[in-house]
Amino acid sequence: MCGIVGYIGPKQASTFLIEGLSKLEYRGYDSAGIAVHDGNKITIEKTIGRLANLEQKLEHHKLEGSLGIGHTRWATHGRPSDVNSHPHSDCTGNFVVVHNGIIENYMHLKEQLIAKGHVFTSETDTEVVAHLLEEYYDGDFEASVKRVLGDISGSYALVFMSKFEPNKIICTKQDNPLVIGLGEGENFIASDIPAIINRTRRTYILSDGEMAVVTKDSVWVTNRQGVPITKKVFEVNWDAEAAEKGGYEHFMIKEIYEQPKAIRETMTSRLAKDNSHIIFDELKWTKGELAAIKKVVIVACGTAYHAGIVGKYYIESLARIPVEVDVASEFRYRFPLVDENTLAIVISQSGETLDTLAALKEAKRLGATTLAITNVVGSSISREADQVVYTWAGPEIAVASTKAYTTQLISMAMLSIYMAGIRETISAERSQELISGLRNLPTQVHEILEDVEPIKTFAQQYGFNEDVFFIGRSLDYAVALEGALKLKEISYIHAEAYAAGELKHGTLALIIEGVPVIALATQHDVYEKTLSNIKEVKARDAVVIGIAQQGDDQIKKYVDHTIFIPQADKYLAPILAVIPLQLLSYYAAVTRGCDVDKPRNLAKSVTVE
Ligand code: AGP
Repeated sequence: MCGIVGYIGPKQASTFLIEGLSKLEYRGYDSAGIAVHDGNKITIEKTIGRLANLEQKLEHHKLEGSLGIGHTRWATHGRPSDVNSHPHSDCTGNFVVVHNGIIENYMHLKEQLIAKGHVFTSETDTEVVAHLLEEYYDGDFEASVKRVLGDISGSYALVFMSKFEPNKIICTKQDNPLVIGLGEGENFIASDIPAIINRTRRTYILSDGEMAVVTKDSVWVTNRQGVPITKKVFEVNWDAEAAEKGGYEHFMIKEIYEQPKAIRETMTSRLAKDNSHIIFDELKWTKGELAAIKKVVIVACGTAYHAGIVGKYYIESLARIPVEVDVASEFRYRFPLVDENTLAIVISQSGETLDTLAALKEAKRLGATTLAITNVVGSSISREADQVVYTWAGPEIAVASTKAYTTQLISMAMLSIYMAGIRETISAERSQELISGLRNLPTQVHEILEDVEPIKTFAQQYGFNEDVFFIGRSLDYAVALEGALKLKEISYIHAEAYAAGELKHGTLALIIEGVPVIALATQHDVYEKTLSNIKEVKARDAVVIGIAQQGDDQIKKYVDHTIFIPQADKYLAPILAVIPLQLLSYYAAVTRGCDVDKPRNLAKSVTVE
């Protein structure tokens, strides 16, 4: 996520702005900038790259003034660059804004503003907000900001400055965090508590729809209609390190809980409002182009590879195109049958995995059209691929990938429905059914995250076993692979995933009394067969934890424990079924005292072959 800071008080604003942004660096960013009001005008200094680059610029170009805002950008719309970094201003430089989130309808607004003569300098959605304020400003800062907010839709934390208002800052939020630090004769604004914790522990945590007018001596909070709101002071009792994790003990559990928002943002503006179709402005494939694709190869590593396996099911069953899935480190050396009629999809959270980048280059060399699904704008893989679909999960700090995986599944599902719609291989009704199912997922994921006690208990009960098996059929098998990897990589338990039908061909020899087996049984079309496999392991006295859909009244008869997920279309069930497995792995690792965020021997981005 982007980092936002603001200051108003008697001191030099730039001092706090840089200090505050440095406390937000952990969130991941690709550019940084500040704007300071010197009493007469606002000056902006911003740059691509690290905060140190900005500090270097400020050494040669001091920004004097006691009111200012700052930003570290995690690119979503518009690649990392000086001009795309925040703060952004209008044509006159009289209005300046920083933003965290996604303005869904920015293209439409931008076209309208350009038609009115506004000149844009960046590719970002944010810049639209500054020009809208220029358009609406009539001397009443608050009323003008409210008009701007009436036009925009999407998720945002926004902070506004105006040349004409040297003594106040306005801020507001919708689906993105924003806090106000209450000082003595000074006030602070930040997207996250770590930025202000060294200045004050007394804060207002803004809620969605609230707008604050901040001066050095006052914070006036209202709703969008101007009705005053009395805010309760929230005393921060975290230490600085805990604050970076938003009060969570580890980044991994924080990112597990960010999944409803990450999934929602990844779907933002890609699901037609009436659920009739998928919108990929970044692709615009035609029927002819898709008809030319005779095969798809999906190439990735680790968790991203597991997302690719789910993607194979989606594309083959919905878009009816043959799909091969490969780990990147193998793909290049198997003389792949790839040509100009192949679509090569590479999946990578970091966009920097060398094996995947090398496979992408090999696929291109062989003539394939290439598409990257990645979480990092401007990453090497995003720059190498012919086309890119971004997951908007925000920075993933923990080595174990969680929200990136579920947003990769969402992206594969949307892509498959999109392809099937163009190829007319599914009916309009089926498309509508899947899209409305997608739209329900954030709420359903949230529902699972609200009931973790049973999962925590299992993890504590079985967390000291040295062998755990995951079994499933069809899409459940794909999720079993991811569940096993999660458990392996953060708890160091020897976990293996098997196609449930494969057990009798060897692995059953390992099933002895007390061995925990996680059995995924969410896929109705193979449910009876999966039950038979569960009976096979139960007959050898394994301890079975079943993962099943709510409403399944059979599973409890055959397993020792059950974790239910909300009812969902079989294609969407993997996105829900993986959540308990992520939590199981997390709590097992905590039980075993492992370094959850930085597991031994592993790196977040593997940039070596
Ligand atoms: C995920 O939990 C692992 N840490 C690892 O398998 C990861 O998915 C793999 O290295 C690929 O990384 P990427 O998605 O950044 O390319």
